[in-house]
Amino acid sequence: MFALDIVVVVAILVVGLSIAWSTARVGISPTPSSGKAREAIIGLMADTGTGPVYDLGSGWGGLVIRLARKYPDRKIVGYEVSFVPWLVSVIFKKILGLPNLEIYKKNFLQVDLSGADVLVCFLHTDGMRQLAQKLTAGEGFNGFLISNYFALPSCQPEVSMRINDFYQSPIYCYRLGELQRVN
Ligand SMILES: C[S@@+](CC[C@H](N)C(=O)[O-])C[C@H]1O[C@@H](n2cnc3c(N)ncnc32)[C@H](O)[C@@H]1O
Repeated sequence: MFALDIVVVVAILVVGLSIAWSTARVGISPTPSSGKAREAIIGLMADTGTGPVYDLGSGWGGLVIRLARKYPDRKIVGYEVSFVPWLVSVIFKKILGLPNLEIYKKNFLQVDLSGADVLVCFLHTDGMRQLAQKLTAGEGFNGFLISNYFALPSCQPEVSMRINDFYQSPIYCYRLGELQRVN
């Protein structure tokens, strides 16, 4: 019994340290979007066609799984750097099936995003600045960016709303073609 206790404590420590390490590295913890934020994002997605959707920092997979179930004919892709949340999301994907969902353990700043029609994110101020730099560096796609809470610097959203959750979170929807012109 004592050995089992030690294994459990060590496992909790390793998981906690792994999450703390990646949070320090990327500047944000794997906090999931609230249920109301997810509903707002899904609502905005209704007007974005049928093309691929990428979640930039998919965390524990709550949003991508919801999107994959809601849009079974749409390709949904998650990119996540933090090992434990990524592993949990991949396990849930396997359990639930969801052939239209792909989840990669990758830094989205280092992948080609031009295959997406819609980018979704819930990042932080500096993450949005880095994303804006990447998108204006000329990857050459037109599409939508839906951001939970954090705005893109120097860009005018097509839609901006506040949802009735704990933080009164703003949700922004941008057209990336416009973003490239503005900057
Ligand atoms: C606040 S969570 C959002 C999770 C999920 N998108 C949602 O809305 O429920 C942000 C996630 O982005 C991840 N992240 C931040 N920067 C990243 C990057 N450059 N590449 C991949 N993942 C990143 C973090 O590890 C974290 O899990």
